[in-house]
Amino acid sequence: MTTDPAFAEAIEASLDIAAERGGDLTPIVYARLFERQPAMKALFWRDTSGSIKGEMLMRVFEAVLDFIRRRQFADHMIRTEIVTHAGYDVPPAVFATFFGLVAEVVREACGPAWTDAMAAAWRVTLADLDEYVGQH
Ligand code: HEM
Repeated sequence: MTTDPAFAEAIEASLDIAAERGGDLTPIVYARLFERQPAMKALFWRDTSGSIKGEMLMRVFEAVLDFIRRRQFADHMIRTEIVTHAGYDVPPAVFATFFGLVAEVVREACGPAWTDAMAAAWRVTLADLDEYVGQH
């Protein structure tokens, strides 16, 4: 089951606006992750330059964009990353936390441009992702 096209449009719009208004969201997303899940910070020990975090967030955005449209790769990718990440000691449940906090940061970056349609679209998509991650 893919996301309603109107919801997909709302999510795409929110990501565009967040990027325009907020620029690179990487520092905000990870600061929040480490605040909520302090144990995750140490797992990025190899990432001295911040490039792994940046690339990971970019892939998460790509995965969300595909997940809400054609699902050509997102479902497979998320499943694979859950396994790869278990090797880094990342518990599957943190995936849902991560998607949720990405949505929060996007909402804040949109500021007054955030709409009820975006809120509804993200709510449904997060529930969908949550269920998907929960099955693995
Ligand atoms: C759909 C969600 C996610 C995607 C697509 C993703 C993707 C990636 C990618 C592409 C990398 C670069 C190295 C690799 O390919 O393994 C990476 C590294 C990493 N990710 Fe994720 N990730 C996701 C979720 C998470 C979550 C929720 C955490 C929890 C904190 C996490 C923690 C890490 C860590 C610690 C590394 C660094 C591994 C190293 O030292 O090289 N990831 N991730």
